[in-house]
Amino acid sequence: MTLTYKTVGVVGAGAMGRGIAQIAAQAGSTVRLYDTQPEAVAKAAAELASQWDRLQEKGRMDEAAVRGCKDRLKPAGALQDLADCEMVVEAIVERLDVKKSVFGQLEDITGGKAVLVTNTSSLSVTAIAAGLKHPQRFAGYHFFNPVPLMKVVEVIAGLKTDPQVCAQLAAYARDMGHTPVQAQDTPGFIVNHAGRGYGTEALRIAGEGVADFATIDRILRDQVGFKLGPFELLDLTALDVSHPVMESIYHQYYDEPRYRPHVITAQRLAGGVVGRKVGEGFYKYADGKPQLPP
Ligand code: NAI
Repeated sequence: MTLTYKTVGVVGAGAMGRGIAQIAAQAGSTVRLYDTQPEAVAKAAAELASQWDRLQEKGRMDEAAVRGCKDRLKPAGALQDLADCEMVVEAIVERLDVKKSVFGQLEDITGGKAVLVTNTSSLSVTAIAAGLKHPQRFAGYHFFNPVPLMKVVEVIAGLKTDPQVCAQLAAYARDMGHTPVQAQDTPGFIVNHAGRGYGTEALRIAGEGVADFATIDRILRDQVGFKLGPFELLDLTALDVSHPVMESIYHQYYDEPRYRPHVITAQRLAGGVVGRKVGEGFYKYADGKPQLPP
């Protein structure tokens, strides 16, 4: 099998960047991982190393494979270190102005030769590409959390994206053991658009006092068959990520009432009770595990 991209850059070493770096290294690519916070890169590298050690202990990777992944993961101290990357995926803060500025720099740094992709959840791929010199080499590449376990990736063409670039990205998704799905550049693409029905309606059910969070989760998880209840999912994604996504999709559809976000998440976000990563969201967490009611 020929690897589609031998050297890949990942910008943003948070929850998503770390996961993308993991599966790219496991596919055999050299991965240059950059973040404006050097400590985020160091933390991600340490967590990935222990993640690979755990996979070895469980017999899911052998020693040589683990050594290879650790060698291929290259912490980058500056964006310039990504100059030789054939593809760069961005997983930074969900802000159009910041993403546009990073991609403008990446185009110069890579000499316009690299494929540049965004992991945006809700921003328009076409809008991020506007102002780039080579918008044909730019696309959306939307992964899900946790990246190694969630095997789907949406490949999103902006108005000017070359279809060959999407085909290449789909091939690389398969190299990483993921399933690519082509989506149009519309607010929320496929999954986060469908997710409005799941999350927003569950918030309305809770807001109207029909049932509490834990009951709604328990029914949808254990009886209806979703892997996570809507509030467990909101806790995993974290409200500082998901509430702005809900607002963005709502506004991009010209305030369509079906997608209206809920005051419950706005208030919890304002209070900092954003989810699992801070130890408290709709549930309290101890050692990363939810303290579910009996
Ligand atoms: P995060 O907050 O865990 O990590 C973001 C990282 O980006 C931080 O380490 C931050 O220091 C870094 N960063 C911010 N500005 C930067 C810049 N200008 N240059 C380099 N690094 C910068 O965020 P997370 O959850 O990893 O999300 C990242 C992106 O992925 C967002 O666009 C989000 O919408 C998208 N996404 C998130 C999902 C989730 O479930 N958390 C799922 C799918 C997409």
